Amino acid sequence: MLFADRVAVVTGAAGYIGYETCKMFGESGVSVALTDVAESSVEASVSSLESLGITVRGYVIDVTDRESVVSGFSQIESDFGKIDILVNNAGVWEHRDVRGQQAMETVAEEEWRRIFAINLEGTYRCMQAALPGMVKHGYGRIVNLGSIAGVSGLPGYADYSAAKAGVIMMSKVVAMEHAKHGITVNSVSPGMIHRTPAANSGTWLGRNGQGDEVARAILFLADDDSGYITGVDIPVDGGRVLGPHGASMK
Ligand SMILES: NC(=O)c1ccc[n+]([C@@H]2O[C@H](COP(=O)([O-])OP(=O)(O)OC[C@H]3O[C@@H](n4cnc5c(N)ncnc54)[C@H](O)[C@@H]3O)[C@@H](O)[C@H]2O)c1
Repeated sequence: MLFADRVAVVTGAAGYIGYETCKMFGESGVSVALTDVAESSVEASVSSLESLGITVRGYVIDVTDRESVVSGFSQIESDFGKIDILVNNAGVWEHRDVRGQQAMETVAEEEWRRIFAINLEGTYRCMQAALPGMVKHGYGRIVNLGSIAGVSGLPGYADYSAAKAGVIMMSKVVAMEHAKHGITVNSVSPGMIHRTPAANSGTWLGRNGQGDEVARAILFLADDDSGYITGVDIPVDGGRVLGPHGASMK
């Protein structure tokens, strides 16, 4: 059976893509630890999945807080016996003080640090918590959420773009470090993913993407049978990073 006896941890899993990923893992027979920063949203997501017949266990983990990450991951390992799959999905892109685009020279230092603390350092911290157990078992699948902002850049979000470029490169380096332990490390870079399906002329496919379309790429990389794929980034973006849409053939 696909994913027989596998245990997955998903961070930021009360949000859109994380929730869809937990749902798809649950439907595929994976034991799922659904984690997010707020207790209320963890509880709501767990019971929403339960109402669909999917059993997951919820944990409150703030990826910016080392103590929260260390104790949360150690609790998950003790509850499930191991962690096979880690999906570093927790991420934010908007600044709290200014909505929308913000030029580099106006981004407050505190906001700059917050974007890095969640997106880049959170991924580092959670990999550090999961890797020793994966090395011990000689098996692991890590999938980190990048972004098309980290591939081709997003004006007005220099911090987010740099943090996500960091996630993509960090994934490649950890892939090189841990290939010998049977651990693969890859990233998935979404773009234009929205809950409401809509036409979107910014993508070559002419529409927004949906959370389950990103989850499908995450599950592919997390599969036992994807063990010869490591250090790659898969954009799930309707072709957005291919270049300007105006270059289309008439
Ligand atoms: N939606 C898109 O189009 C898109 C595009 C590119 C990249 N991404 C990336 O995909 C991932 C998921 O995005 P989404 O659209 O589902 O976003 P979302 O806002 O729906 O979910 C993000 C989740 O991260 C959680 N989170 C925030 N701070 C946290 C912390 N300190 N500790 C733990 N969890 C925390 C939030 O509570 C939220 O549940 C993110 O990394 C995002 O950057 C999304």
